[in-house]
Amino acid sequence: MRMSDRLNPRKRSMQLSRLFVLSLFCLLLPWAQPAVAQTDLTGYWVLRVPNGDGIFREVYIQINQSGKTISGTLFGRGPNGTPITGTFKDRQLHFATVPPAPPANGAAPSPYFSRSQVYDGVYQDGKLSLQTQNYRKETMQGIAERTTREAALPPAPLPLPALRDLPDNGLVRTPPMGWNSWNKFASRIDDAAVRTMADAMVASGMSKLGYVYINIDDTWEGGRDAAGNLIPNKKFPDMKALADYVHSKGLKIGIYSSPGPKTCAGYEGSFGHEVQDANTFAAWGIDYLKYDLCTAMTIYQSTQEDEQGLYQKMGDALQKTNRPIIYSLCQYGQADVWKWGAKTGGNLWRTTGDIRDDWASMDRIGFGQLAIASFARIGHWNDPDMLEIGNGGMNTDEYRTHMSLWSMLSAPLIAGNDLRNMTDDTKSILMNADIIAVDQDPAAKPVQVLSEQGKIETLWRQMKDGAVVIGIFNRGDAAANGTVAWSDVKLGDAGQKLQVRDLWKHQAVSTVGDRYTATVPPHGVEMLKVSVAEGK
Ligand code: GLA
Repeated sequence: MRMSDRLNPRKRSMQLSRLFVLSLFCLLLPWAQPAVAQTDLTGYWVLRVPNGDGIFREVYIQINQSGKTISGTLFGRGPNGTPITGTFKDRQLHFATVPPAPPANGAAPSPYFSRSQVYDGVYQDGKLSLQTQNYRKETMQGIAERTTREAALPPAPLPLPALRDLPDNGLVRTPPMGWNSWNKFASRIDDAAVRTMADAMVASGMSKLGYVYINIDDTWEGGRDAAGNLIPNKKFPDMKALADYVHSKGLKIGIYSSPGPKTCAGYEGSFGHEVQDANTFAAWGIDYLKYDLCTAMTIYQSTQEDEQGLYQKMGDALQKTNRPIIYSLCQYGQADVWKWGAKTGGNLWRTTGDIRDDWASMDRIGFGQLAIASFARIGHWNDPDMLEIGNGGMNTDEYRTHMSLWSMLSAPLIAGNDLRNMTDDTKSILMNADIIAVDQDPAAKPVQVLSEQGKIETLWRQMKDGAVVIGIFNRGDAAANGTVAWSDVKLGDAGQKLQVRDLWKHQAVSTVGDRYTATVPPHGVEMLKVSVAEGK
């Protein structure tokens, strides 16, 4: 207010009366508006998100509303659902899941469980239009409608078989090698892409090096026909024809299912249809099944007893088909699966949550395997998840480390990139025959720690031919030196001449002196094969 106005009594009285009218208006406003009762969202809702392949992903939400505050549960994967908290105001709904504590056994939680998922939306005409992002940061949008408690809750458990040891199926005497659709393509995978991937597996020369499995991961499922047979969705018009095509290339084909009613991506699972589905897979000519726990966790406990029973059920069904089918367990390393996975007929078992295409994830998972390395054995492998090599999130040194570490661990080498279009770097990493030979060494002796020097971690493993492979890994962010004393490598008789080969540079390394120092780039590796020099 200016000084001149303050001194003018007429103006001042006009201002006062304006102020009076305004205050009165403000006071009466709430009473003057027609009463709009805040909608009560309390109850059960089903959110249906279209996947674009004719299949809807269903998410069940139980909402408790108190004023503008929302609480409740989202039913998906956890044994009792995941709690939610949020607000509902002026038709706008906002809530987020509250992630549970990480698993008690020290296993890394899957990204599904460790992050809070945020949902936003609006209420209109009895429906909620909701949007969220999946863990790959892809937007998912759908409509939620009211449903019943019965529809929202997971089905009652079906009885599990008495536990027994299934026989070894005699497959994968060395770790399986191949390709899987998930890491690069997730749901963007179809019949045509799988065929061209099989073509590329052969054309690139990868198949000659041992990569033979072409594995279709989640999102191929279409539901069940009237007889209860599992059928593919429209992305995969004819699974038998696709399997025939892959076989015609001299390759083998893998598929994916879950012991739960729904897979992790919300597609049809094998719950209650284990025998029928195993027979369907065998009839299509499937050679490899990845069986992913997912929604079975909403029905059963995450204990050895329950999970062994679930995996035995499908393991038994697969063996009874009499078709050789590799059995890949995927339950994220819960309940020390490496101790009992083989009893269920399992050929490999995931030991961790999902890998991501970044150094932190690969480093944590890879070096986290050393304590359980001795549980990997012929026909039964620890699976620290599929390769990210070539997907772009790591540099060449990091991808070399990925390949070297997985090979030192005798891990399955399942490429997860687009084989149809690989850079020379990617090819040279995935197709390094010397490193593949480490992975595929028929003795499958466990990797051991030779030394730790600052950020340098040196691992070694003895090969069937008596040679020793040494991996000098630099886990640090700066170049660093790692030293190996040749006497640490107990090879042949003392004083025997050694020959050393660098498995990435593909050249001999000098053995002059009693020790060797490598300067290793940040996040890089030097892989050496040391053997007794012949004829000397
Ligand atoms: C889980 C598995 C992944 C992949 C997805 C598919 O997260 O761990 O490897 O199979 O499910 O939905």
